[in-house]
Amino acid sequence: MSITINEIPVKRVDKSRLPEVDFDNLAFGSVFTDHMFRCTYREGRWQQAEVVPYGPLTLDPASKIFHYGQSVFEGMKAYRDSDGKAWLFRPEENQRRLNISASRMAIPELPDGLFMEGLKALLEVDRDWIPGQSGSSLYIRPFIFASGTGFHASPADAFTFIIACAPSGSYFSGKVSVKIEEAYSRAADGGTGFAKAGGNYAGQFYPTQLAARDGFQQVIWTDDHRHEYIEEAGAMNIFVRIGDTLMTAPTSDRILDGITRKSILQLAESEGIPVEVRKIRVAEVVEASKNGSLREMFGAGTAAVVSPISSFGYRDELFELPEPEDSYAAHFKKRITDIQYNRAEDPFGWRYPL
Ligand code: COI
Repeated sequence: MSITINEIPVKRVDKSRLPEVDFDNLAFGSVFTDHMFRCTYREGRWQQAEVVPYGPLTLDPASKIFHYGQSVFEGMKAYRDSDGKAWLFRPEENQRRLNISASRMAIPELPDGLFMEGLKALLEVDRDWIPGQSGSSLYIRPFIFASGTGFHASPADAFTFIIACAPSGSYFSGKVSVKIEEAYSRAADGGTGFAKAGGNYAGQFYPTQLAARDGFQQVIWTDDHRHEYIEEAGAMNIFVRIGDTLMTAPTSDRILDGITRKSILQLAESEGIPVEVRKIRVAEVVEASKNGSLREMFGAGTAAVVSPISSFGYRDELFELPEPEDSYAAHFKKRITDIQYNRAEDPFGWRYPL
């Protein structure tokens, strides 16, 4: 059946897959909703957008995404509250960041409205896929890739923008132990580390596989110059608590401007928690762990939400982290998810009704 939402035509599936989904046992990002939003760019402009059944794409083998990895993406979530209402969290930040990433990767930016109208049209059709179970949400993955063809190493002339969604549970299962990496680098000054570009993630897989052999779930990247400072963990930004001071690295060419990260900073500042946004030396974290002043480390991201780190590996040593009763990680996880799931006041206007 075809309908139109906000000028966006919708082609619906004949039969929904919703009844097949076990919403009580959701993994992260592995089952997909009935529909997807799609819009292509060619002849110098974004074309008519549409919502269509979710499914495989037909792509020319010479599409530049396959050869040069020209692609960017976003991660966001839709939440259902106890009254059944659905919400997004700071979606305009995702829209802004997608265009920043696109511009760095020589991908045409999205015109005003396309991102939000596409998102709203898709979520209107797939609204019933937003889980109501505690801790679950609808993970939303907007992405743009080079569908234009050619082996010449230059930007494509055609692109595809898709929004796909996956009802999801937690990103991590169990404790999160991280390795502070010194041999490999994720990003460099002047590079693409701040962009959500597909290749930034692919480049992490091999070092992360090596770390996984030693029992680590994530790698904490350090600066590429001398591996002296903590940067981010690829799937999340990193926070360190020494004494009562909450610290995180400043954003830069090399570090993603995380939306959960900036929300935590804003909450912490509003609550009078001492915050330092500055370069954090690996040596001071190791020293703080040895002298007992390192009270917590945690990751923050859309997928990871707020994930406490149980231990970190550095060189050949494993450093266990305490589990403080007044944990900042637990506190910020509660504050952020209470806002996301409409369980608390939203002092900064971050919630967006669907
Ligand atoms: C997110 O947190 O949404 C991300 O995009 C990180 C990704 C590696 C899952």
